[in-house]
Amino acid sequence: MHSAVLSHTADVTGWRKAAREAIALNARPDEVVWAVTGGQSNILATPSVSAAPIAFKVPRRFIDLAGNVLLHRDPERFALMYRLLWRIREQSELLSDAVDPDVWRATKMAKAVHRDIHKMHAFVRFKEVQDCDMTLWLAWFEPDHHILEAATPHFVDRFTSMHWSILTPERSAAWDGTNLTFGPGGARSAVPEWDRLDEHWRTYYRNIFNPARLKIGAMTKEMPKKYWRNLPEASEIPDLIRIADGRMQNMVAAEATVPSPMTAVEDRKRVAAAPAHLPALASDIGACARCPIGAFATQAMLGEGPTKAEVMIVGEQPGDQEDLVGRPFVGPAGKILDSALASAGLDRRSAFVTNAVKHFKFEPRGKRRIHKSPSAGEIDHCRWWLARERDTVKPKLIIALGASAARGVIGRPVTIGHLRGRVMPLEDGAHLLVTVHPSYLLRLQDDAAQRLETERFIADLTQARQWLSQAS
Ligand code: URA
Repeated sequence: MHSAVLSHTADVTGWRKAAREAIALNARPDEVVWAVTGGQSNILATPSVSAAPIAFKVPRRFIDLAGNVLLHRDPERFALMYRLLWRIREQSELLSDAVDPDVWRATKMAKAVHRDIHKMHAFVRFKEVQDCDMTLWLAWFEPDHHILEAATPHFVDRFTSMHWSILTPERSAAWDGTNLTFGPGGARSAVPEWDRLDEHWRTYYRNIFNPARLKIGAMTKEMPKKYWRNLPEASEIPDLIRIADGRMQNMVAAEATVPSPMTAVEDRKRVAAAPAHLPALASDIGACARCPIGAFATQAMLGEGPTKAEVMIVGEQPGDQEDLVGRPFVGPAGKILDSALASAGLDRRSAFVTNAVKHFKFEPRGKRRIHKSPSAGEIDHCRWWLARERDTVKPKLIIALGASAARGVIGRPVTIGHLRGRVMPLEDGAHLLVTVHPSYLLRLQDDAAQRLETERFIADLTQARQWLSQAS
């Protein structure tokens, strides 16, 4: 008999080493006993070998499969993968035989592990904790399998500049901005129940929840109930389901958002309420014909907010609701923006909020007006108005939401990924911070991506708040 000892439950490296040694000793699968006892991984073998080992190349597909299967909580996983390895020596195409019982079982286990990792990426929620002048982010998660090591590099990539720990019942992971370390498990009680971002999650969820697409079965499959108690937004679900039917009926019965031609003409004469120091601009912009968009929108819209605001927030262009109301960011993207600003400790009322393009560009579709992105030329035409607003407000910091806004501020094409997260000086002495547009967050379909991108967005706004307090 051979005894293969692994150092911990997810010791994939130790298993590979032990499996290689067992193969070299020509140990049949039924001669190897696998155990996890801590300490060094090794194989304690009886070196009596009956035949010379067969030399073979381990297929890439096996290595990938093993990487997942070995993290499954099934105690048979090590033996199963060794048996497959042993058989592959003589049947190199074995993994293509989907009905082979070992292959079938391993494939099923790998899928379960993959799903568990995906759920962890989607449903880890960090809570902020102050620890001796340092901000730590703690999260509690209960995985089904031994996935912590495999799942955490994702969080390192996303939250590189934060110090965080993820606690699970069996193991924990800690990132200090440089090193990722793993240790013993923790307790749920070590993670605060409440966090200032919780309300943001709820706002976000209410805004992305589409009653027309509600399928309760699919939703609970995607977000199984066992995760709900760690998800602040889950408290919204019962209510949203309850009122979904009514919301659907209201949506169907809703008035068209396309204003009648008469209303549009009358409305165009009236100009968006502008702050007291921008009245001349406000009356001029109503007649702006620098580009064709204005012919269809209800009204041209300047920004709003204190005329001596330290921070100016620039969006892309008014949306459907903004166009009707005459104020920036009052629709769904505005709700996300308001909530993210509050989570970052910034008060929207102290900011001058405006757009790179001053008219709503859309395409009529049935009763709806569907947003269309402004062209580079349209953004460039409108820079004249944005520049007048900047001259008047003279903000210390401009936060550009998305690529159109950034182009409006700096006058050339911008890749968000290149500029994001850095406060950069501008020629007029102001500074610029580029981040994503809140409607980008609303468009993301994948839960994990939505959550991570929202956290990054809030982190960018937090950086803006910190920069402003240092600059003051
Ligand atoms: N999107 C924007 O960019 N601006 C608004 O005012 C509303 C939505």
